[in-house]
Amino acid sequence: MTSTQYFSPEGEAERRALFQKVSMGGLSFDTNRFGTFTGVLPLTVPDGIRILVYSDTQCHHPGVLNGVFDFADWWRPHMAVHVGDFMENWWLSLHAPNAFAPSPSSPQDETESAAANMRMIMKRGDPFATFAIHGNHDVSRVTNFVSKNAPLLARLLGKDRETVMNLPSRMGFEPDERITFINGVGQKGGVEGGLLVNGLTKWQHGKRVRPRPGDSAWSHFLHNFMSNLIGHVHRLAHVAIQTHSGVTIELVESGCLIDWRRPEYSYQPEHNWHHGFVVVTSHNGIVYMQPIPIIEGLDETGQLHKFFVYLDQEGKPKVFKCFDN
Ligand SMILES: [Fe+2]
Ligand SMILES: [Fe+2]
Repeated sequence: MTSTQYFSPEGEAERRALFQKVSMGGLSFDTNRFGTFTGVLPLTVPDGIRILVYSDTQCHHPGVLNGVFDFADWWRPHMAVHVGDFMENWWLSLHAPNAFAPSPSSPQDETESAAANMRMIMKRGDPFATFAIHGNHDVSRVTNFVSKNAPLLARLLGKDRETVMNLPSRMGFEPDERITFINGVGQKGGVEGGLLVNGLTKWQHGKRVRPRPGDSAWSHFLHNFMSNLIGHVHRLAHVAIQTHSGVTIELVESGCLIDWRRPEYSYQPEHNWHHGFVVVTSHNGIVYMQPIPIIEGLDETGQLHKFFVYLDQEGKPKVFKCFDN
């Protein structure tokens, strides 16, 4: 192992020791295995932690996700977080189907594809724990379908309708897999549930959508009055405000890793979505969220493709190219 092979020269024992300082209400996550949680899970993370935040992969596997996985292998996050919409559930969509390019998706294909992506998120860069916050595509599309088409079933299931078509079990996760699925109270799918990191910043899938980048996170700020990170809007934005008392409020929209070339998304032909992801570090107890834009451009051979740039610890830019294979 050379120091340039990875972002940080730390050894594996050192990396693990730092992760062991992550806690939920004083409990270590070190021995954590598969679990589900309903509500907002409070996490305390130590200085120097690296958290890689993915959002809106929407189950199919685009080249942009390959680029982020290559980054993960180099950056070696202590934890990975998916802020929702790891599934598409196109078969439950109320958007009009595209007659010219029918969607090839099937519920089975989508479930297998979402599970494969999630296992890659759990594997690439070797994070010690993964958190997956449910998004509206993961839960609301299912609960809405059940409520409309089988209201008796919805009633029988009461407050926990998730059990009828529980996505983590359909994806085939086993008790020994290191992932925690987070849901909202009343199974509102990330709209209510999420993570509260160091008591400073709330991460959730999000619900409110505003037309301009940054305004959706601002709208969530007006609701919960604290720093936040949201997915859902498929836009990448970063807003920082300093209050009179010197506290900085950070608002982040985490972009998306969707394959928007697919026919499912033709309902948004003029979309203003952005490809991107977020890296999180902590210093002096403060959680810093840095959105990384994935942009399109020509490489040295004149080929057009998606790529992004991250500085190594010596401040040199490292380019990550996103290829489909
Ligand atoms: Fe989404
Ligand atoms: Fe969403």
